[in-house]
Amino acid sequence: MARLPPEARHFDAIVVGSGAAGLTAALHLAEKGTVAVLAKGDLADGSTAWAQGGIAAVLDAGDTVAAHVDDTMVAGAGLNHPATVEYVAGNASAAIDRLAALGVPFNPGETVSERWHLTREGGHSHRRIVHVDDATGWAVSQALIKAAQAHPNITLVPHMAAVDLITHRHVLHERFPQRRCHGVYALDVKKRHVARFVAPATVLATGGASRVYLYSTNPDGATGDGIAMAWRAGCRVSNMEFNQFHPTCLYHPKVRNFLITEAARGEGGHLKLPDGSRFMARYDDRLELAPRDVVARAIDAEMKRLGLEHVLLDLTHLGADFIKAHFPTIHARLLELDIDCTLQAIPVVPAAHYSCGGVMVTLDGRTDLAGLWAAGEVTQSGLHGANRLASNSLLECLVFGQAVADDISASGSPAPAPEVKPWDESRVTDSDEEVVIAHNWDELRRTMWDYVGIVRTDKRLERAAHRVKNLRKEVQDYYGNFRITADLIELRNLVTVADLIVRSARRRRESRGLHYSTDYPAMAAEAVDTILDPVMTREA
Ligand code: FAD
Ligand code: SIN
Repeated sequence: MARLPPEARHFDAIVVGSGAAGLTAALHLAEKGTVAVLAKGDLADGSTAWAQGGIAAVLDAGDTVAAHVDDTMVAGAGLNHPATVEYVAGNASAAIDRLAALGVPFNPGETVSERWHLTREGGHSHRRIVHVDDATGWAVSQALIKAAQAHPNITLVPHMAAVDLITHRHVLHERFPQRRCHGVYALDVKKRHVARFVAPATVLATGGASRVYLYSTNPDGATGDGIAMAWRAGCRVSNMEFNQFHPTCLYHPKVRNFLITEAARGEGGHLKLPDGSRFMARYDDRLELAPRDVVARAIDAEMKRLGLEHVLLDLTHLGADFIKAHFPTIHARLLELDIDCTLQAIPVVPAAHYSCGGVMVTLDGRTDLAGLWAAGEVTQSGLHGANRLASNSLLECLVFGQAVADDISASGSPAPAPEVKPWDESRVTDSDEEVVIAHNWDELRRTMWDYVGIVRTDKRLERAAHRVKNLRKEVQDYYGNFRITADLIELRNLVTVADLIVRSARRRRESRGLHYSTDYPAMAAEAVDTILDPVMTREA
């Protein structure tokens, strides 16, 4: 017997994503109306809860917002949008105050004049990073979730995976002909049906896409869903070629995505070769604290030169007490893996860490589609340019989460809610070949790792384009024929994101920031964003 579609659920705003960006937006939006927050897994499953180092903000008397702006622009290799950088850096200390007011227990300063302890990370000219030991993200995530759970206007909906945005094309009556977002279709992962969440304002806060690579520091869900959904709905995306590789992910046969925070180098850790020698002096005067793109490329070059599977991060000279006090989470996790980092160096490799590109947004977080806003790692706001400065990401989530909410609240009374078509499952059946998903997933990630990694060439990108095109076609056929599952949603989005990354990388005929091509080693005189427009793209 055919199942009746579930009733559409109506809210004043829908936020897709329960990380720092989504929950910040939701908490501000809830002051004015009802908000649903969707998460595809548990509420703390995104990258936010995994963040280690901390949040950048000018809080020291000797530091200035101008210096934070400069450092951000130097790391971004001239591609940052100055207005965004100034806006975010200028709003940083207020964002930290709000988190402290929610109960985030930032480490206190060591002198009476220092409110909080500030650590140092690569590319920062001052100590500027507030943190909660080496598990800042967990503390931030827990404080935001607790506040959201306590708010009467917020409905938290975990295990609800957004599939596609509801647009004018999904509305039943002609009253709503204009291009607009009206909410999302989302798969109830436990009940296995597609629900409709309808609202005049939808916020994408779905995080990044680094799981498109075989090796990544990110949680499983970082599959670029928001970028792919916005693209399908007609929004432009930008700077997708700039995927950041974190220099120091643990190299271990069983644990593939455990990060060793940059603060470990900030507090004096040394990168070494197996013979115990340091090598960063050959690459950059800033040694281990050069921006990430420089350090990741240096490690990659040394690994290729010597045929190594990893290099080493040595903290032992910092002393056991210092290590245990500053990096308790890392110390404990490594001990579980039989690595005592107070006595031995840690094997590390670069791994995909952060998507600098994404959905294009204004300073208010508006996308190209009316009714749709976006905040956090899913966006390209202009903050990071060609390479993100360490600990600027959580900051971007906090500042843009609020900006989006303020803009939505200021947008005036919403249009009446449209009647939205139920999800059509009449032409699909249950798959009997789920192995196809696992196989394609693996092939895609390997292709991206091998051909669209830290060092690129025209030939490798051409190979990647060819393989991604075939995979896209296969996944599209599969999607058209079989009932959707959480894995299929992610794979479909990953192939779209891979395609966007490869296309963007092929357009950039220079080396800048995170995009390094041996065919075009020089940086062009003019810094230009790579903008992909679905309206102009036949294949979109
Ligand atoms: P996320 O926190 O990733 O949240 C995404 C949310 O979207 C999740 O709730 C997820 O379930 C939901 N979602 C995704 N797709 C769907 C869908 N289809 N349907 C429904 N929900 C969906 N940055 C810093 O500034 N400082 C640091 O110290 C730092 N350390 C890091 C350490 C690690 C190991 C990692 C991985 C990242 C680190 N970063 C750090 C980067 C930073 O953590 C992230 O960029 C930031 O947390 C992203 O927040 P977000 O709110 O945009 O997304
Ligand atoms: C880290 O702690 O090294 C991660 C910081 C970041 O990604 O900004």
